[in-house]
Amino acid sequence: MNGRLLAASLLGTSLLLSSCGGVGDAAREDGENGLIGIAMPTQSSERWVADGQGMVEQFEEAGYGTDLQYAEDVVENQVSQIENMITKGVDALVIAAIDGEALSDVLQMAADSDIPVISYDRLILGTENVDYYATFDNYQVGVLQGTYIEEALDLANEEGPFTIELFGGSPDDNNAYFFYDGAMSVLQPYIDEGVLEVRSGQTDMEQIATLRWDGATAQARMDNLLSANYSDEDLDAVLSPYDGISIGVISSLKGVGYGTEDKPLPVITGQDAEVASVKSIIAGEQTQTVFKDTRELAEVAVSMTDAVVQGEEPEVNDTESYDNGTKVVPSFLLEPVSVDADNYEAELIESGYYEESDLA
Ligand code: GAL
Repeated sequence: MNGRLLAASLLGTSLLLSSCGGVGDAAREDGENGLIGIAMPTQSSERWVADGQGMVEQFEEAGYGTDLQYAEDVVENQVSQIENMITKGVDALVIAAIDGEALSDVLQMAADSDIPVISYDRLILGTENVDYYATFDNYQVGVLQGTYIEEALDLANEEGPFTIELFGGSPDDNNAYFFYDGAMSVLQPYIDEGVLEVRSGQTDMEQIATLRWDGATAQARMDNLLSANYSDEDLDAVLSPYDGISIGVISSLKGVGYGTEDKPLPVITGQDAEVASVKSIIAGEQTQTVFKDTRELAEVAVSMTDAVVQGEEPEVNDTESYDNGTKVVPSFLLEPVSVDADNYEAELIESGYYEESDLA
C-alpha cells in the first residue's frame, strides 16, 4: 500500500501508529496534515484553558491532530512535555513558556529534528530556535492600563498628590517588562512631577515583580504595603498587570476595610478579562481589565503554524520589537482593548466571547 492510500485509510482514526517510526507522515495517528504539540503554562488561569481549546479546535479544522499539555507552572514539567512531543515526532511546536529562558536545550533538540517553533503570547528568550511569535501588542497593554489610571484620576488636570502602588508580572516572563514599560510611559511623568506618589518607594521592576503572576503572592505584598505605608492615608490607585494579581490585591484591600462608601477601593487595572474579574468589575470592585481575544490569538498561531508546516511564509506585522537576546523574532501583534463597566457588554458579550449567564 502506498503512503497516500495508507493515509487515506487511516484518516480520522486514532491508531497507535506513532511507534512505527520510519513509516513516514502517512502512518501517523494525527490529522491529515500532521500533528502539532501545544505546550501551555497552566490551567489555573482560565485564559490559558481557552487558548488551548481554541487552538485544538482550529488545528482540527485545518486538518491537524494536536497534543495539548499544561505544565501547571512547573518549568521542568514543561521541558519534559516538550521533549515528549519531539520524541513523538510532532510537525511543529506552539509554546507559551513558563520561564522564557528555560527552553534553550529542549529547543535545540527540536531544531535537530527540524521541528519549527512558534512562540505563543510569551516570547521564548535566548535561543535562535524560535521561528515566529504570535502575540498582542504587549507594550500597548501597559499603555492602556496606565492611561486608564491617568484618565480615572484626571491626572492631566488635577494637582494631586494621588497615592498609587505598582505591581509587575513574573520576572521570568518577557511580557511583564513590556507591560511595565508601557504603563510607566504614561505614569512615570506624573510620579516625577509629584502628582502621583508611591509611598512605598517601590517603582523598579525588581521591587514590584510577582513571581508566576501569583495572586496570593500579590495579596501578601499588598498586605505589607498597606500596613507599612497607608495607615494614615488612603490608596487611590493600583497598577495591576493581570486579573489574577488584581483579585489578590482587592482581597488585601477589603481585608483592611476598603470597599465601603467612606473608604472606596482604589482604581485598579488588570488584564485578560477573566470571568472573576469581569464579575468584579460589574460589582464595582476591580475597575478595568485589558481584553485580549484568545480566539484571535489562536487563529493567528494556527495559521502561522500551518504556513510553516506547508513550507510557506506566515504573515507577520512586526519585525523589530521582539529581540529575544539572540535574534529578532518575526511577530504578528494583535490589538488589546481596554474594558470597564461601560463597555464590557459590547466587547465581551456582543462579541460572543462570554454569554451573559457566564457573568451572572
Ligand atoms: C502573560 C500574558 C497575560 C497574562 C499573564 C499571566 O504572559 O500575556 O495575558 O495571562 O501572562 O498568565
